[in-house]
Amino acid sequence: MDYLEINGGRKLSGKIDISGAKNAALPVIAATLLNDGISKIDNLPNVVDIKTLLKLIEILGAKVSWINQNAVEIDTTNITSTRAVYEIVSKMRASILVLGPLLTRFGECEVSLPGGCAIGQRPIDMHLKALEAMGADIEIKGGYVRAVAKNGLKGARIIFDKITVGGTENILMAASMAKGVTEIINAAREPEIVQLCEMLQSAGIEIEGVGSSRLLIRGSGGEAIKFPKTISVIPDRIEAGTYLCAGAITYSSITLERVNIEHIQTTIDKLLTMGCDFNIKDESITIYPAKQLKEVNIVTAEYPGFPTDMQAQFMAVASIADGESLIEERLFENRFMHVSELNRLGADIWLKGNTAAIRPVDKLYGADVMATDLRASSALVLAALAAQGTTRIRRIYHLDRGYDNLEGKLKKLNADIIRKKENS
Ligand code: UD1
Repeated sequence: MDYLEINGGRKLSGKIDISGAKNAALPVIAATLLNDGISKIDNLPNVVDIKTLLKLIEILGAKVSWINQNAVEIDTTNITSTRAVYEIVSKMRASILVLGPLLTRFGECEVSLPGGCAIGQRPIDMHLKALEAMGADIEIKGGYVRAVAKNGLKGARIIFDKITVGGTENILMAASMAKGVTEIINAAREPEIVQLCEMLQSAGIEIEGVGSSRLLIRGSGGEAIKFPKTISVIPDRIEAGTYLCAGAITYSSITLERVNIEHIQTTIDKLLTMGCDFNIKDESITIYPAKQLKEVNIVTAEYPGFPTDMQAQFMAVASIADGESLIEERLFENRFMHVSELNRLGADIWLKGNTAAIRPVDKLYGADVMATDLRASSALVLAALAAQGTTRIRRIYHLDRGYDNLEGKLKKLNADIIRKKENS
């Protein structure tokens, strides 16, 4: 198994490009199942989660042709199966995104239950309840969700009890081929949702309220939909935020290109509070380090609030600030697994319920640590970049799921980082 070895304490410098957003690309790929022809996608990030979803739709009968490393053509004319198998769904929860498109296009499907994951239970009850409201019969048997809507789905008024990104995406896709109008109240407003809405709009689906918490979707009434234009995946706001944190924690100035500044505003605001500064020009952002990092208080929330996917990275940065920081996690019940690993690197973090108190330490020191989930892993990379000495991070398959060419980009920024094989 691969691990990362990082010799910390070096200043970073230089410029890198931000990749396409994994979390935007996943629903875009799932939505190609609504098409009975060819869809083209570019600016795909080169990460394992994208390959996993492409593999899943290939098993369903889609033909995937790579145009280059970041662009694919997906032919979903002849879908031969509507069963999303456990072997793939268990690797990646976002596979549940095929449920809405398969059901609305074919009137039936079976999707393995994704099960729990390290950061919490992550149920899909709201996805299922909404599909039932649209006329689906749903049964859970043998670890699979079996959904049937023989005469197609019907538009309905869906009120989500809680804001759900994946749930909003699944219902948007389901509604796009349903009969009549679907109203989604308490919809998620993440940029990834806006990208999916714009993709559906480019296929002629009428959607009102894009970017707001109330969406009105007029379905095609069972007609498969065509995507006439290449869908270009939006920049990854979490990858951009992670590299800004790399600049902050190493007291370095680095520049990121191909960023959507609006999407990372809360990250910028928190780093300003911590004493960093920025120069922003169009799609480029340069971070200037703080003289001394200051403490910060963070409460995670749905977009446009502070993203839970940036919580772990800020905890790493806050660990060497000069006062006590508080971070409250409101979205997932168990998203603090990085705490014990950051403490192995010398941080002083205490947990009480869903709040972490990060007490200041002068320095972090290299150690052997274990990655536990995707964003927790990037927090360990950040801490290792700032730590004195050598850190070895194991189980980096978590990082490979979501960070495109992490070592390559960090090396370009002058980090001393190398991927090694166990026993090499
Ligand atoms: C997506 C992101 C993930 C991010 C999360 C929150 C992708 C592929 N993943 O995950 O990186 O951390 O949004 O911004 O885009 N919930 C229920 N019942 C449901 C659905 C969700 O109780 O049916 C709960 C979840 O357990 C969680 C909260 O709602 O506590 C938000 O989850 P959701 O927004 O659905 O997250 P994902 O779409 O899984």
